Amino acid sequence: MFVVIEGIEGSGKSTLHKGLVERLSTEGRDVVVTREPGGTATGDAIRSIFLDRTLTIDPLTETFLVNAARAQHVAEVIRPALDANRLVLCDRFTDSTLAYQGYGRGLDLASLQRLCDEATGGVTADLVLLIDLPVDVARARMQARSYVLDRIESQDAAFHERVRRGYLELAKSPRHRVLDGTLAQDRLLEEAWNFISTS
Ligand code: TMP
Repeated sequence: MFVVIEGIEGSGKSTLHKGLVERLSTEGRDVVVTREPGGTATGDAIRSIFLDRTLTIDPLTETFLVNAARAQHVAEVIRPALDANRLVLCDRFTDSTLAYQGYGRGLDLASLQRLCDEATGGVTADLVLLIDLPVDVARARMQARSYVLDRIESQDAAFHERVRRGYLELAKSPRHRVLDGTLAQDRLLEEAWNFISTS
């Protein structure tokens, strides 16, 4: 089973991811934990270019970068794990490309979908947990962490609003479950866990 967690920055994705990994391990589930962009040595090298705030990167270049990392990720990590019937828990996948490069940057969604399909070779998530919350709440959380924002985090609020709206559009598909990101961490974990265990 392939489970993906999605959401804007500051949505609590990483905390939920960590909580789910602990829960799955406690339950004795064989889980492969990974993320995008990244998940492989090649993907992590691409990630550091992708997030480098000193670089100016064209939206189409962004798209190729994340999909280059994704092709490697699917080939090296995700497909072998799914073939071995392992549970894969991935922080971001193709929805991020549709939300950020599509709704956020304004690239054509159908073209992005084709490129993602090429990169994944048809591997799709069985379940996507989307953590949704208002952009101003997410940004306040990020600012409270007081670290230097990366290239995407430092985009303006309008960009992040478009990404959030895009995610909500994508979440109309039956593979998606929307979680309320303003909930306390333990409630969020409980809801996510229920979705996973009943899928
Ligand atoms: P994060 O995993 O720490 O949230 O950082 C990854 C960043 O990369 C995040 O800002 C979203 C962005 N991103 C895209 O723009 N497109 C993609 O396809 C992926 C996977 C991530």
